[in-house]
Amino acid sequence: MTAISLQGQDLLTLGDLSAGQIMGLLEAAASLEGRQADVLKGQTLGLLFRKPSTRTRVSFEVAALHLGASTIYMTEDQMQLSRGETVGDTARVLSRYLQALVVRTGAHGEIEELAAAASVPVLNALTDHYHPCQVLADLKTIREVKGTLTGIEVAYVGDGNNMLQEWIQAASRLGMTLRAATPAGFGPAPEVLGLPHVQAHPPQLLHDPLEAVAGADVVITDTWLSMGQQDSAGKRQAFAGFTVDGAMMAKARPDAIFLHCLPAHRGEEVTDEVLMGSQSRVFDEAENRLHVQKAVLWAVLAA
Ligand code: CP
Ligand code: NVA
Repeated sequence: MTAISLQGQDLLTLGDLSAGQIMGLLEAAASLEGRQADVLKGQTLGLLFRKPSTRTRVSFEVAALHLGASTIYMTEDQMQLSRGETVGDTARVLSRYLQALVVRTGAHGEIEELAAAASVPVLNALTDHYHPCQVLADLKTIREVKGTLTGIEVAYVGDGNNMLQEWIQAASRLGMTLRAATPAGFGPAPEVLGLPHVQAHPPQLLHDPLEAVAGADVVITDTWLSMGQQDSAGKRQAFAGFTVDGAMMAKARPDAIFLHCLPAHRGEEVTDEVLMGSQSRVFDEAENRLHVQKAVLWAVLAA
């Protein structure tokens, strides 16, 4: 019933998908919006989260419910992982009970190890490197507002973190223009920039936020301190001038929209004025997490 099948596949980053597969997921997400179907009846999804979550956890649980599946939410402290059981053994065992694993963790290598050992699909709910479900929701939001992704110019302002790196993966696959401004020393990881498809369609990397947002259709930022990071080295100071405020938004196109994966830190990466202003689509973006995750679950488990 959806435009796309990723039957049995992992989703660790959008860079592993083709442009057609990404667009197929966006089509499926739009068609599943507001719909419920028992296509995953009898299936159980495991949500293994080593970090806190509001949007990802709840939207995956509701998405599963809308498709007839049940979920089990597992935090690190409740698991034998906290007592030294290996990631591989955990994956092998959970694969005997569950039909898919949704995993939020730190090191991307850990989710890769888990996916290699699991015999069921592993879906990335955020690692320190990537956040594919979030960027799918961003893309859906942009497409809804702009009517297309073709020719859209995206500016990312802030830390070279999982959000920027996922955007680099997605933009390279989709052939989108991405200009990213990060403070010197806080750019994306060289291994992401070195991927062949990224080298074939690289982002423009800058250190001046105003240069990045000039003429952009979409302005995106994210927290300066991601989960697990401390400000011990005074990281916030390096981000002076990187707050997305009204003056910065005024450099983008007049009809530009503002996106943020949330949670937001008002007065740091964005002002309250921009976050709550007329150009902000952040709550539509958050809602779209539900719709895209329903599409991912359908494509991986039912299509
Ligand atoms: N955007 C996002 O992933 O939010 P949570 O950390 O609340 O899941
Ligand atoms: N970069 C942020 C995203 C949160 C959804 C973090 O990793 O904490």
